[in-house]
Amino acid sequence: PDVRPLVAGNWKMNGTRSSLDQIKAISEGVRNELSEKVETLLCPPATLIYVATAICTESPLMIGGQDCHPETHGAHTGDISAEMIADCFGTFVIVGHSERRSDHGESDSLVRSKAEAAHAADLTAIICIGETADERKNGQTLEVLKRQLVGSVPDGATAERTVIAYEPIWAIGTGVTPTVEDIAEAHAFMRRELTDRFGAEGKAMRILYGGSVNPSNAKQLMAVDNVDGALVGGASLKAEDFLAIYRVYE
Ligand code: G3H
Repeated sequence: PDVRPLVAGNWKMNGTRSSLDQIKAISEGVRNELSEKVETLLCPPATLIYVATAICTESPLMIGGQDCHPETHGAHTGDISAEMIADCFGTFVIVGHSERRSDHGESDSLVRSKAEAAHAADLTAIICIGETADERKNGQTLEVLKRQLVGSVPDGATAERTVIAYEPIWAIGTGVTPTVEDIAEAHAFMRRELTDRFGAEGKAMRILYGGSVNPSNAKQLMAVDNVDGALVGGASLKAEDFLAIYRVYE
């Protein structure tokens, strides 16, 4: 399986047609030999997926969605399916982001069915997990990660079609990150859990770190053992910053 690290940008509910120049700049910035070493992905809002993939036809930059419904189609006003993302030439979808879990009350089992839907549509699912500030304070971090991994990751998960993103909720958009020791501990724990359950596939499954990654801290964070890339929010909105993070793999 492909174990190249992945630098992924999540634009969240940001981006209009006027942001297309940023997508263009990113797609041009990743067009070099570095893409042999590291994969890049951008997840713009659903309204821009189709035009983004059209911009990226000549670029190794991949495009994905930020969420999908567990079903393929039907009476679910406002939702989009994994098939629809694939139809727009997207190849990835984020599921279970903490903002989905909190804004929309998404449970581990719903997240798991979304990941299964992604796999059925031949998309790679980025499954997000992470503890709250209180859970960390109470020493429950590893227990929470275990519960979320067991509940959210489908049984058929492979390294090719599944990526885990560890995002401590208190580190998202706050400018605060865990220490490298804490990240190393969490990622080593997730690696053990994945390897116990999925064997060689779990060993090769990418585990991204997300939460206040920026051009100044990326090098240090990406160097931590078992950190196979980043899920970048705020800093992915500016091509320059996103590309600076990607270039730590130079
Ligand atoms: O999906 C991205 C994460 O929620 C991280 O967001 O980089 O703005 O902290 P952030």
